[in-house]
Amino acid sequence: MSRFSASWLALREAYDHRATATAPLFAIRAALADRRPLRALDLGAGSGAAIRLLAPLLPKPQEWLAVECDPALVAEGRRRCAESLPAGVRVRWKGDDLARTDTLSRLLHRPVDLVSASALLDLVSRSWLAELVAILAASRALLWTRLTFDGRIHFFPPDPFDRRLVALLCAHQRRDKGFGPAVGPEAVTTLAELLAPLAGRMVTASSDWRLGPRDRAIQEILFDLWAEAAASMAPQEAEAITGWRHRRLTHLRAGRSHLTVGHRDLAWLPGAAA
Ligand SMILES: C[S@@+](CC[C@H](N)C(=O)[O-])C[C@H]1O[C@@H](n2cnc3c(N)ncnc32)[C@H](O)[C@@H]1O
Repeated sequence: MSRFSASWLALREAYDHRATATAPLFAIRAALADRRPLRALDLGAGSGAAIRLLAPLLPKPQEWLAVECDPALVAEGRRRCAESLPAGVRVRWKGDDLARTDTLSRLLHRPVDLVSASALLDLVSRSWLAELVAILAASRALLWTRLTFDGRIHFFPPDPFDRRLVALLCAHQRRDKGFGPAVGPEAVTTLAELLAPLAGRMVTASSDWRLGPRDRAIQEILFDLWAEAAASMAPQEAEAITGWRHRRLTHLRAGRSHLTVGHRDLAWLPGAAA
């Protein structure tokens, strides 16, 4: 399964919704309570999971622009949002590459009340985040980001290779994903640092996945994806990585595997009292 396939995004959607931190989400909802019509932009929208979570909580009418580079996900998102969103929420889908230099400024050229980015920011570069912050400062749009990986992974039962695996995975996270060297696990701290000089209020909270023995399918895929990423960083350690994956799957199949994956959510409310 690939990192962004429709089936992977569908599997993780319920976990993402459950993990979403309430404090940033409610701060956004309160700040937008009087905004009508509400104009929102979802970056790296996948199949629209964040819109399906957020739209029912916000005032209507709403006009969303969902931006996604994968045409298969655009089609899937169009279908799933049409099926499930409440009346008064309109979503336009746009196939576009956010890594191109002019895309952000083009998308934020028109007035927008809210920019959202779910499980996207660890892919981007510091300079891309700096451009987003500069554009937000000029546009006065709110920002809501969620499910940004922060480098913390805790395994139970522990294994001697866990630390090395996480180190290789974090190194893989920092590889260029099309936006320049990726901020990876430092995404939210970098974003917070860039936002800090601006007048406004920031609300952050953790949004970890907490997985147990019953969450077998998602753990299995994560172990596969992580082993593959680690092996691409250190081919000479392939045997140790395969052994680690095998031991993790053995724990999982024996019903004793617990896993915490660290994420952080952030809301930015420009001009609001800190
Ligand atoms: C982990 S998925 C998250 C999807 C969705 N936001 C969610 O929460 O389910 C990251 C998404 O970013 C998209 N993406 C990655 N690079 C992109 C780029 N350069 N331009 C537009 N979308 C991109 C991927 O195709 C994928 O759908």
